[in-house]
Amino acid sequence: MTFVKSLLTAAIACAALTSPITHAAPIEIKFSHVVAENTPKGRMANRFEELVEQRLPGKVDVKVYPNSQLFGDNKVLEAMLLGDVQLAAPSLSKFQKYTKQLQLFDLPFLFDDMAAVERFQQSDVGQKLLQSVEKKGLVGMGYIHNGMKQLSAYAPLKLPADAKGKKFRIQTSDILAAQFEQVGGIPLKKPFSEVFTLLQTKAVDGTENPWSNIYSKKFHEVQPYITESNHGLLDYMVVTSKEFLMELPEDIRPVIEQSLKEAIAYGNEVAAEKTLSDREAIINSGRSEVIAMSEDERAQWVKAMKPVWKQFEGQVGKELIQAALDSNQK
Ligand code: LMR
Repeated sequence: MTFVKSLLTAAIACAALTSPITHAAPIEIKFSHVVAENTPKGRMANRFEELVEQRLPGKVDVKVYPNSQLFGDNKVLEAMLLGDVQLAAPSLSKFQKYTKQLQLFDLPFLFDDMAAVERFQQSDVGQKLLQSVEKKGLVGMGYIHNGMKQLSAYAPLKLPADAKGKKFRIQTSDILAAQFEQVGGIPLKKPFSEVFTLLQTKAVDGTENPWSNIYSKKFHEVQPYITESNHGLLDYMVVTSKEFLMELPEDIRPVIEQSLKEAIAYGNEVAAEKTLSDREAIINSGRSEVIAMSEDERAQWVKAMKPVWKQFEGQVGKELIQAALDSNQK
């Protein structure tokens, strides 16, 4: 009996030595975000999942959690540092606790258009900003566009004075708070997941978001007026934790990085397309009136909001502001 038993044990040991280990558990990557799936960020995250699973089958398992299902926007970075989520792409306005430099992107009327934003983000200065969160244990993997923000409200916002005394939901950014204070508004920092209800129940009068967020979250159904202001930017930084990135095996990390790069390029194409098509869809829905801004009206908003630049110049950095402005020249 003992002899048979040892023979069996030896046979099992032999088999274990000769067959390669194929059953190591896949590396799990949870990608958490707050927007709907059919948005630039949502589609980018899903494309990343597809690419990684094609290229690293059985080795890496990507799971995307949209619509704040896993973490709301104010919790996701803390969760990332605790290892509970591996990828996210919060809006650039949501990094204030981690770096003051990214606040640059919140300055109203800074970039002329998305081409200027792209030029700046791809410049040496823009790329260096991706590292601004490293001291806090995060790594910026790239930018992804959504687009320029529009102002929405219950009553038409034609001139800065129309915002006086109105409550506006904003992201967690002091610059965005100052921007609305400049026009006499009352800013309230609230998570994205609460915006629809805040608007529907009239707990706030208005908000700001790009076309694809307004359309995908149906804000236009509870905001009868949208002013096409293009007054600020809503873009994202794709981010992971330094610890997670460093621990990835040598053969896996470049594939993840390349897949992210391709997914971001795809997300940027979606952003460009949705800026036009979701705007059209909102107009065609007839639920919200889209108000154009004349040059003179725009000049008044610029004049009212621009003092915010000076107010935050010390935190953001004068040179950084100048570099962003330079990107407006082709
Ligand atoms: C918001 O909170 O308004 C946006 O940051 C949501 C998003 O991620 O686009």
